[in-house]
Amino acid sequence: MGETIINNSPLTEHKILTCKNISQSFDYELFKKINLELSKQESISIIGASGSGKSTLLNIMSSLLKPMEGSVVFNNKDIYKLKQKELLEIRRNYFGIIFQAHYLFRGFTAIENLNIAELLSGEEIDSELLKDLKIDHTINQNVGELSGGQQQRLSIARVLTKKPKIIFADEPTGNLDKDTAKIVMDTLFKYIKENDAALVLVTHENDIAFSCDKVYKLEQLQLQELK
Ligand SMILES: Nc1ncnc2c1ncn2[C@@H]1O[C@H](COP(=O)(O)OP(=O)(O)O)[C@@H](O)[C@H]1O
Ligand SMILES: [Mg+2]
Repeated sequence: MGETIINNSPLTEHKILTCKNISQSFDYELFKKINLELSKQESISIIGASGSGKSTLLNIMSSLLKPMEGSVVFNNKDIYKLKQKELLEIRRNYFGIIFQAHYLFRGFTAIENLNIAELLSGEEIDSELLKDLKIDHTINQNVGELSGGQQQRLSIARVLTKKPKIIFADEPTGNLDKDTAKIVMDTLFKYIKENDAALVLVTHENDIAFSCDKVYKLEQLQLQELK
């Protein structure tokens, strides 16, 4: 599994992820020479207008999209220079990616969905996490019977069950009411403190963004530091 990476250089660096001079365009230029550093136990958020490239930047940071220019360094390695197998190992063992649309296995119960994460990662389900997210009473229900907000929290629980070192979340509270959004954010903050992990969050909600340690706005091809 991830042994090669662990043995080569343990995750001792305080800086857990570094983006260097990242540029990307599709139909139009999205951003140019962006630099960003993420430390252990740190939470950062990225805000910006719709279409400014927030999701694209998160995809680049989280190993899903190779940028046109620049590098993403995790554990002293430029992840897009690694062999595909090594990149997949990093994604599987160290990165937790939370999408707005939740990819749960329908036709299975909530607990069965979590069991799959347990099986794949060798980590155990944390029952306190389910209580924190207020989904502990739903675990025997079928995914299809859960509300959108419950499904969203279940998919977050599934990602955290893997015990990732960096959580990348694209609008994780987008479909949630205010109280539930607060529960989710508190759970993510608690997770990164207890697991020496870090969080990168994309959101269009200002109050959610400013609950993170640092806030960046994607604007005029650059990241402006707001907090
Ligand atoms: N894989 C892709 N191929 C072509 N264009 C893309 C791709 N991904 C995103 N885009 C375009 O890049 C722009 C920014 O998209 P996105 O990163 O999703 O913005 P945001 O998340 O800030 O709303 C949009 O115009 C979108 O259509
Ligand atoms: Mg987006």
